[in-house]
Amino acid sequence: MPPSQNGRVGSFLRTTFLRRFSSLLDAFPTGLHAIDRNGRIIMVNKRELEMLGYSEAEMIGRPFTDFIVQDQRAAAWSRFQQKLRGEKPEQTGDRLIVTKHGEQRYVTSKDTIYRDHRGRPYLIFTALTDITEVKRAQEQRMQQEKLVLAQELAKGVYHDLANLLTGVSGNAELAERLLGQMPPTEQQVKMGESLRTIREGAMRAGDLIARVRLFSRSQQAKVEFQPIMLAEPVRTVLQLFSGLLTNNGHCRISCELDEVLINGNKGDIMDAILNLLINARDAIGTDKPGEIKVVLTAATIEAPLDIVGGGELATGEFVVLSIADNGSGIPAELRDRVFEHGFTTKDQERNSGFGLPRVLATMTAHSGGVVLESEPGVGTTFRLYFPALK
Ligand SMILES: Nc1ncnc2c1ncn2[C@@H]1O[C@H](COP(=O)(O)OP(=O)(O)OP(=O)(O)O)[C@@H](O)[C@H]1O
Ligand SMILES: [Mg+2]
Repeated sequence: MPPSQNGRVGSFLRTTFLRRFSSLLDAFPTGLHAIDRNGRIIMVNKRELEMLGYSEAEMIGRPFTDFIVQDQRAAAWSRFQQKLRGEKPEQTGDRLIVTKHGEQRYVTSKDTIYRDHRGRPYLIFTALTDITEVKRAQEQRMQQEKLVLAQELAKGVYHDLANLLTGVSGNAELAERLLGQMPPTEQQVKMGESLRTIREGAMRAGDLIARVRLFSRSQQAKVEFQPIMLAEPVRTVLQLFSGLLTNNGHCRISCELDEVLINGNKGDIMDAILNLLINARDAIGTDKPGEIKVVLTAATIEAPLDIVGGGELATGEFVVLSIADNGSGIPAELRDRVFEHGFTTKDQERNSGFGLPRVLATMTAHSGGVVLESEPGVGTTFRLYFPALK
């Protein structure tokens, strides 16, 4: 059927061949266009027009590369030339096309080349399949995998970094104290200032590590529960962040931990404890020495108990983790607001106000609840109630 004169092939196809089959080509589920050997579009089906948002008149006669993103045009053109010469291009036919509205979409392209009796190409059919959604899902999955990897890596370094920083700030503090016992010379005063800078820097770095930990945890979607001894995450947090939480000994932490079992997610519980302990440390401040008491016991609730958020805990067997400080306390009018997302009375550059709302969410996920008692100037106690596991 192909006529022998190539110059007339385009018009023959447009007028006769393609027109005759246009309804069939329009019914194709993929985008489909035909180009002549100069790369100009001579036919485009309905699906491709929908895909790109152009009318037929806007596409006919234009080079097929006009509809590909700028930086892929040269590569697409050289692939096209290779195919015309009968070579097999090395790269795949995946390309990024641009719609009339400027949106970029991923497509795979598959070409079929028709040649005349002398082997010269006269028509190339290209089928385009839109794989944007598949590609985006793939990218999302890769992002997720990268995140999980980063979290795994981060987990490994928290411990070492936190320990190192405790060492740095502890030693700087010791050296400061020793220096304070000597008669002050100008050089010693300068040395004291340097040591203070080192200690404060190490503290800030510790804060940062705690924050990165909390942030990376918050990105994890799946929460798995399993039986755990609640004392375990408490001990881990205290061990990991001891220098940070005690303000290098400025704030004492005492612990009474019973070995009680709950069904829970260790990571989320660690975050909740870390949040509460950092809050307690901040409430104590550095003006005078303070104390944080951490107590873990089993308890029986005999009458329904009011919890933060307006609900109440049913009667039954519970495990109670209480974290009490003798810091600034929370004024009565703020006791509900402190659980609001983004509420903070601290430096907004470094604090997001998401700590307590996350503690609350964690406790709700554990079918438990939070009870808050506080007196301005005296201190604050947060009690976390978890259903006991027999
Ligand atoms: N133990 C506490 N004693 C006194 N005030 C507290 C205590 N715990 C929390 N607060 C108050 O509740 C506010 C909200 O706490 P939350 O943990 O949600 O956020 P934050 O600590 O301010 O910021 P982030 O946790 O993001 O660092 C705090 O800014 C503080 O005013
Ligand atoms: Mg906080």
